[in-house]
Amino acid sequence: MFNSKFGSIPKFYVRAPGRVNIIGEHIDYCGYSVLPMAVEQDMLIAVEPVKTQTLQLANTNPLYPDFSTSSNNIQIDKTKPLWHNYFLCGFKGIQEHFGLSNLTGMNCLVDGNIPPSSGLSSSSALVCCAGLVTLTVLGMNLSKVELAEICAKSERYIGTEGGGMDQSISFLAEEGTAKLIEFSPLRATDVKLPSGAVFVIANSCVEMNKAATSHFNIRVMECRLAAKLLAKYRGLQWGKVLRLEEVQSKLGVSLEEMLWITEDALHPEPYSPEEVCRCLGISLQELRTQILSPNTQDVPIFKLYQRAKHVYSEAARVLQFKKICEEAPDDTVQLLGELMNQSHASCRDMYECSCPELDQLVDICRKFGAQGSRLTGAGWGGCTVSLVPADKLTSFLANVHQAYYQRSDRNLTFEKQSLFATKPGGGALVFLEA
Ligand code: GLA
Repeated sequence: MFNSKFGSIPKFYVRAPGRVNIIGEHIDYCGYSVLPMAVEQDMLIAVEPVKTQTLQLANTNPLYPDFSTSSNNIQIDKTKPLWHNYFLCGFKGIQEHFGLSNLTGMNCLVDGNIPPSSGLSSSSALVCCAGLVTLTVLGMNLSKVELAEICAKSERYIGTEGGGMDQSISFLAEEGTAKLIEFSPLRATDVKLPSGAVFVIANSCVEMNKAATSHFNIRVMECRLAAKLLAKYRGLQWGKVLRLEEVQSKLGVSLEEMLWITEDALHPEPYSPEEVCRCLGISLQELRTQILSPNTQDVPIFKLYQRAKHVYSEAARVLQFKKICEEAPDDTVQLLGELMNQSHASCRDMYECSCPELDQLVDICRKFGAQGSRLTGAGWGGCTVSLVPADKLTSFLANVHQAYYQRSDRNLTFEKQSLFATKPGGGALVFLEA
């Protein structure tokens, strides 16, 4: 296909994997550690550097049209999350990092098997893959941590205020192990998953593209406002505080204490923008221009109490999960499953990032033998991840398939990838021709 598109052959190939987040949802952008693993599904790009300054992109999937632009003038349209914009994010990130205004052109053919809009991070895999393609074309070197940080930052050109989980695991993943990803500074530690159980991904088939709606950024802003209100309540300098983790570290207290402080400082009734302004002593204009993102300016209510409760409790669950994996007691699988179930309940009730299909799917998964099941990724659609004892896997897959997927009213575009067992895969790689 490369040959018929560009009339030449590729010089090298780059792959970057998608991921499944085992536990720790919507807390990376609050500064807290998360626990993902790479999946085997990935983005793969075939590349030929060219002498002209033209970037030509094609995709093996006919749904994604060809695109071409001058490599000196990269424009990323925030209003529509078109596929090529994710490539441009990675490209621009590397270009800016090295302060280059002139970049050579290239011909790229993109192929991917991560179901899109399913919470398995196809978009970040494309950003990371494009970043590594660009670095390779330039003949430069960066560490995996630097690449992950650059790509996390540059993906925000698309307009979503994501954390760094997806890009970090895409670069730092290693086959056979999940990773605890910690931020500031970014680092990844192996987490050995229990033998005797497998993680199964199931797609709810409800598509959710986090860049196409404001759900995601509203949550990021609610956490930001909650952090500022908590900081002010405890007499901290709240102006520069952006993340819930900063409040905890500045106060030097435990996550459990942060849950108590949240109970004291915030109320469960939603906050209007006017109330937030009163609490912080700022004007609506300041709230809009100095705190909120462009697509959250007109949000009528903010649920600060619920969001903060989710974040602090989820951050604690991640640490418990890791501890149980390390200590490996006899009932490891059951304990891990309980944490995953609690995580789903908190995502559904406190963070409100689930949807009826995801709730139904986790119920079905638990009914047919999963010790734990939860939504994974941003939510509002996409996939669940379930922890299933290995000896129940075959019957689990058959029963879930029948109970969820054999209903005629489902949109089964990605049926093949809808339900599959997965194990920790490796990170991004460059393949050079021998
Ligand atoms: C998306 C973001 C991540 C993370 C998850 C939710 O995948 O890109 O940074 O916030 O949602 O856990």
